[in-house]
Amino acid sequence: MFPSASYSERRHELKTKLSTGILLFPGNEESPMNYRDNAFPFRQDSSFLYYFGLDFPGLTAIIDLDEDKEIIFGNELTIDDIVWMGNQPTLKEKASQVNILHTAPADQLSGYLASALKSGRPVHYLPPYRAETKIKLMGLLAIHPALQEEKASAEFIRAVVSQRAYKSAEEIEEIEKAVELSVRMHETAMKMARRGMKEVELAAEVQRIAVAAGGQLAFPVICTINGQTLHNHNYGNTLKSGDMVLLDTGAETALHYGGDLSSTFPVDPAFTPGQREIYEIQLRAYHAAIEALKPGVSNRDVHLLACRTLAAGLKEIGLMKGDIEDAVSQGAHAMFFPCGTGHMMGLDIHDMENLGETYVGYNEQPRSLQFGLKSLRLARPLEPGFVITIEPGIYFIPELIERWKSEQRFTDFINYEKLERYRHFGGIRNEENFLITVDGHRLLGRPKPVRIADVEAMRSEK
Ligand code: GLY
Ligand code: MN
Repeated sequence: MFPSASYSERRHELKTKLSTGILLFPGNEESPMNYRDNAFPFRQDSSFLYYFGLDFPGLTAIIDLDEDKEIIFGNELTIDDIVWMGNQPTLKEKASQVNILHTAPADQLSGYLASALKSGRPVHYLPPYRAETKIKLMGLLAIHPALQEEKASAEFIRAVVSQRAYKSAEEIEEIEKAVELSVRMHETAMKMARRGMKEVELAAEVQRIAVAAGGQLAFPVICTINGQTLHNHNYGNTLKSGDMVLLDTGAETALHYGGDLSSTFPVDPAFTPGQREIYEIQLRAYHAAIEALKPGVSNRDVHLLACRTLAAGLKEIGLMKGDIEDAVSQGAHAMFFPCGTGHMMGLDIHDMENLGETYVGYNEQPRSLQFGLKSLRLARPLEPGFVITIEPGIYFIPELIERWKSEQRFTDFINYEKLERYRHFGGIRNEENFLITVDGHRLLGRPKPVRIADVEAMRSEK
């Protein structure tokens, strides 16, 4: 945990942003996998962690704005819990670790909220994303799960986003630990990959590194020779000569801050000339996007710059044609890059995504419905303290090629005849993590191998 004052200061600031009612923070519960006592690894809710720091299941916290009172509701362990799972601090001891004076048994929460609601005071909650929490909210607030998201408190969401979006020095330090570890995961996989290995062997090794360091994976490993599938979680393929591996993985520290890196490397000691050509175009877009990072620049413009750079490179090699500005404004480049250039990162790898990208990434401005641009998670102007990823990619998705070709889409901008030769090329992505500073940006963690020579040097090491 951070020093207890960090949590009380965050709560103090939150309280200044809302005027009346109760702020409700349901912590996460254990979530059964195949029977009650065989649960998925426990992961606390990130907003609960941010304001209350306590990494235990079964807790709900409230901030009563009108009474100026903070209470943690939960139950003490039974003797059976202790016999099977070991002892823990008492509820009072846990609460005092984060400067909370008041605790109460879990079954008193519904009475507390009911009397607030009866006297006309609002109970603010954030959009729930777990079934257990939705059931809990239904019991506490009598709101059907189907309506809970739309009835979540916009005021509360705005207040939380306005704090969590700006990372403090201690958070940045923790994120850098996660990124350092993530670099190690990538370098290890790059060195270890051999023809004949299964993807799962690499995926297992990167997970081992994250877990052995006391944390866990920040998100399920993407490790695939089918890099054109953006989030491929299937590790059944065998690495063959001529393949490239796309690895997108990151560690989460014990305090639950994450790193998120992507690399693409050849199974052979070197890229083929055709792979180099596409890799270099991806790198140009990658570096153009990074160089543009500074306060005041909208991340939408960073993304569009990456798109134009990719499209210009693809035009140079004859895969695209025509006016690049027009091609990108009409969305033709999305054949090769159907997603966004990056996202915020922190306690969640897509930070605060459960609070809604409209609030987190768009300042409540409308988002594009255009294929490709609609998947951009972060479009708002960048500000000092933001931590973001940069991850443009080039993907050759056979089904998308087939679909657009049969519809004769963007024939002014896409050279379908040449594209036929790339149908089974796969995909290439690099990704690193950046802090937006007062005068620009800073790479978090040490650089991972990105340049072709550095990637190939990893592949030739014994
Ligand atoms: N690394 C997975 C993602 O950014 O979506
Ligand atoms: Mn990412």
